[in-house]
Amino acid sequence: MKILIVGSGGREHAVTWKVVKSPLVQKTFVAPGNAGIADLAECVDIKPDDIEGLLAFARREHIDLTIVGPESPLVAGIVDRFRSEGLKIFGPEKAAAELEGSKVFSKSIMKKFGVPTAEYRVFESVNDAKQYIVECEPPIVVKADGLAAGKGVLVCGSAEEGVCAVNDLIEQRIFGEAGKRVVIEQHLRGEELSILAFTDGKQILPLASAQDHKRVFDDDRGPNTGGMGAYSPCPLVHENQIGTVVEKTIRPVIDGLRREGILYTGVIYAGLMMTEKGPFVLEYNCRFGDPETQAILPRLKDDIVPVFLQVAEKDLGQRTLEWDSRACVSVVMASGGYPGAYKKGFIIKGLDELKHKRDVIVFHAGTSRGAERQYLTDGGRVLAVSALGADVREARERAYQTVDIIFFREAHYRKDIGLKALKQGEAVRP
Ligand code: AMP
Ligand code: GLY
Repeated sequence: MKILIVGSGGREHAVTWKVVKSPLVQKTFVAPGNAGIADLAECVDIKPDDIEGLLAFARREHIDLTIVGPESPLVAGIVDRFRSEGLKIFGPEKAAAELEGSKVFSKSIMKKFGVPTAEYRVFESVNDAKQYIVECEPPIVVKADGLAAGKGVLVCGSAEEGVCAVNDLIEQRIFGEAGKRVVIEQHLRGEELSILAFTDGKQILPLASAQDHKRVFDDDRGPNTGGMGAYSPCPLVHENQIGTVVEKTIRPVIDGLRREGILYTGVIYAGLMMTEKGPFVLEYNCRFGDPETQAILPRLKDDIVPVFLQVAEKDLGQRTLEWDSRACVSVVMASGGYPGAYKKGFIIKGLDELKHKRDVIVFHAGTSRGAERQYLTDGGRVLAVSALGADVREARERAYQTVDIIFFREAHYRKDIGLKALKQGEAVRP
């Protein structure tokens, strides 16, 4: 088989790493990929949003299956376009991807089908929003309706902050049209958990649990990022309980959409807050999580390609997944200044000696190759250093030992990835 993977981050490196292991696969292309991906597959210079370019490439190369990493081509309808040309593709169609593309849509679907989620209101007018905010008990959460590269959620500690947030979104349009409408919702307390599941629109096949670390600094301080590290499994939910969580948080939406004529095929990611009243959905994503994927896929024992194929063919059948009982911790190494402005082009040292190390995989996120074939930093998140261990403690140690071997100027990373799992005092072994 010939496979095309769309995207260029750590998530896509992890998917590529898993796909090239499959005996079913003869050739893998990644558009556009990065320097780490280029060690495993052939990178082609087509941007993820260039749907026509990707389609032309897939036809020309007789690609058997395309796998889409990022949300933006999904929300723009890449899956509909490929299917209309008879090409096999993994991901949800545009109507289903709206679960991530529009918070207003996703909240209304959750309400309609009885998924626990924070109480909310939708506003298009700054004045109406302000009036509402002064009546609310802070903190409140203000969310841009549309895609904002993970930055469109503002947790506001006071009414003044809330008013600033709606001004920025609706009036200043700091996220463009994405902020034309805003969702204002009740602030929930608890620990966050990511649950992902494959679905063909009927069957739902959960993946192992994971926990992301969204804030830039240790102890969840500083601004939100794309994710500074993840680990799997997460002791907030026992492996045996994932099914129950999925029944409450994912099943009603998949079934509800199907009844409305929208078949969700692909992977669905529910960002959950584990509250005193049980799991509440913060958001859905229509794709794999980044960096969750870098902590989850190293634990998957099965060949992933048949799963992608069955989902793309809308027939998951009775498939199950087998997981490595060990834990995986993935630490993101970022450029100095990220998630704000940062410099690129620093040489990354230490990677070659890690290529054959057991139970350690260094996934590349933002990297390129220099004139002398050195690896260079080329993005905000540069690497995701994943390590397996008997439990989260051991996996953490191994991941941080590896981080210590890698060097690039101004690198920064969190030192507490996975610590919450240890603090929860669980045995952590699944
Ligand atoms: P989202 O993109 O909707 O997942 O939001 C990004 C982050 O904002 C989440 O991971 C949470 O940390 C936080 N967040 C979003 N909604 C809420 C909420 N209702 N209550 C508390 N925190 C929230
Ligand atoms: N880990 C957060 C995300 O993928 O959206």
